[in-house]
Amino acid sequence: MKARKIVDEMDSYVPGKSQDEIAKDFNLKKEDIIKLGSNENPWGPSPKAIEAIKNEISSINRYPESQLHELVSEIAEYSDVNDSQVIIGGDGADEIIDVLAKTFIDAGDEFIVPLPSYMYYEYLLKQYGAVPVYAKWDLEKNELDVDSINQAISDKTKMIFLCSPNNPTGTLIDKEVLRDIASQNKDILIVIDEAYFEYSEVTNKDLINEFDNIFIIRTMSKVLGLAGMRIGYGLACAEIIEYMHRIKPVFSLTRLSFVAALSTFRDKDFIEESIEKGIESREYLYDEISKIDGLNPFPSKSNFILIGVKDTGFTASELALKLMEKGIIIRDCTSFKGLDEYWIRISICTLEEDKRFIEILKEVLS
Ligand SMILES: Cc1ncc(COP(=O)(O)O)c(C=O)c1O
Repeated sequence: MKARKIVDEMDSYVPGKSQDEIAKDFNLKKEDIIKLGSNENPWGPSPKAIEAIKNEISSINRYPESQLHELVSEIAEYSDVNDSQVIIGGDGADEIIDVLAKTFIDAGDEFIVPLPSYMYYEYLLKQYGAVPVYAKWDLEKNELDVDSINQAISDKTKMIFLCSPNNPTGTLIDKEVLRDIASQNKDILIVIDEAYFEYSEVTNKDLINEFDNIFIIRTMSKVLGLAGMRIGYGLACAEIIEYMHRIKPVFSLTRLSFVAALSTFRDKDFIEESIEKGIESREYLYDEISKIDGLNPFPSKSNFILIGVKDTGFTASELALKLMEKGIIIRDCTSFKGLDEYWIRISICTLEEDKRFIEILKEVLS
């Protein structure tokens, strides 16, 4: 049986490796592995989320709510927007991107992604017959190449994906740049991915009140510590949100995810502490990596750091393998379009794990 042509021609998405996979492949103990590959919260979820899940567990024979009003209101309060400007996704922010595509993409439409950026936009949108057009991040200046966006726009452009802070460079896009792009392209949806905004302490959510062609993507997988529960949300004008609700999976958020999300948003101390510790780890790692010969880290406003490794004489894959043998998972960025084979990305960890990672990194490079 042959699949649809689009599916037949697609490659699978390459996610970061899990601790279980590495433990099995390299004969290591799972608890000895340091995971720096997927930009998660290394301190774990809010204790209040754990408690809420325990209390809810005996109700999982019942379908979850479909409207999620209480959580919508909680997210609206956290984000300082109206309830009508919020949509929730049950396979994380990735579901939000999928619903965006289902709502707005017709086969043959174009979307713009400046490379390197999060590769999942392309992976999902292509499934709906959309065509990627690449703009670029200027890696020398470490900023978005705005001219390349303008040059990529055509009358077929339906969406522009702008990730801020950008994964994998960790760079912010200036709000004025976003405002200009949105105001000059009223028929194009400008999708601003703020998966990591808490670590930058900058948000562009106010732009949804100024423009009805701006969509903000957010997730609970990063600072909020719920990557395994798969909860994302989007912010936009009420008209966009209403369209998306028409086709969103009805029960995509499980009961356990729902209560975990509510309790996490209400645990302000946990959120504040996670941001603080994350920034502290990021700055520690950046300082230490800057001192190691051959490594070129990018300053980051996120919970990860992109590092050029060309001057070490190793490719990213070689370095990733050497580190993996010693129980360290990093992201080999070779599969990121727009980067060559000499880039790795590491995420924040506990200070103790950061120190062990730096020691092992020095050992591997010496
Ligand atoms: C920029 C960006 N957007 C979206 C996502 C998807 O997040 P989620 O886990 O909520 O699907 C990620 C995940 O790494 C990401 O890096």
